Amino acid sequence: MNASEVSAASDVAARRAAAVSATVDRIRAIEAREGVTRPTLEKIRAELLKLAAQEQLFPSSQFPPPPNGEKGSNRYLLQEDAGNRFALYLNALNPGNETKPHDHTTWAVVVAVDGQELNKVYERLDNGSDPNRCELRVREEIMVEPGRGICLMPEDIHSIHTTGSVPTRHLHMYGLALEKLDDRKAYDPATGTVTAYNRNFMKPTVGAKG
Ligand SMILES: [Fe+2]
Repeated sequence: MNASEVSAASDVAARRAAAVSATVDRIRAIEAREGVTRPTLEKIRAELLKLAAQEQLFPSSQFPPPPNGEKGSNRYLLQEDAGNRFALYLNALNPGNETKPHDHTTWAVVVAVDGQELNKVYERLDNGSDPNRCELRVREEIMVEPGRGICLMPEDIHSIHTTGSVPTRHLHMYGLALEKLDDRKAYDPATGTVTAYNRNFMKPTVGAKG
């Protein structure tokens, strides 16, 4: 980058930090006022959709996916409160990725700056009494794409599938930072097994603190 490009990039970073901070201030207030319910998460989604609509704050040059179309995600930490609360990440994935069905054990809201990510949300048919077994079926499919997001309660189970033609740049907000969640589970709808969800997946790849 030449000097004027460096200056422009730092200007975008400053405007992004201000917009992120103001958005999280409003989200923090919503949760404090109303607790964690589906209607609360819909209000949080509305705040994140307004942030994601400012595409110029999240340029692909600053938030690239893994190089050469590789699998996996680049996860950029945008902001996190003390105590690891209200963690906001930008996830950049190439088309062709997917995850196993999993839970989060904290609330989550995901919206798109760019790119498409098909979310399958599962309904649990068993009563959860056996910690190693499950019976699932797809309840709903939601395409997270610009203008559209998804809200997940702590116990909700979803899988993601980046089916679009361009890399994703999606904002993921969690009630508690991913690296603090140590009891997440992966669910296999075909075999009915429940296993620990891959912890490596939870570490931010870029921008992690400490
Ligand atoms: Fe997830």
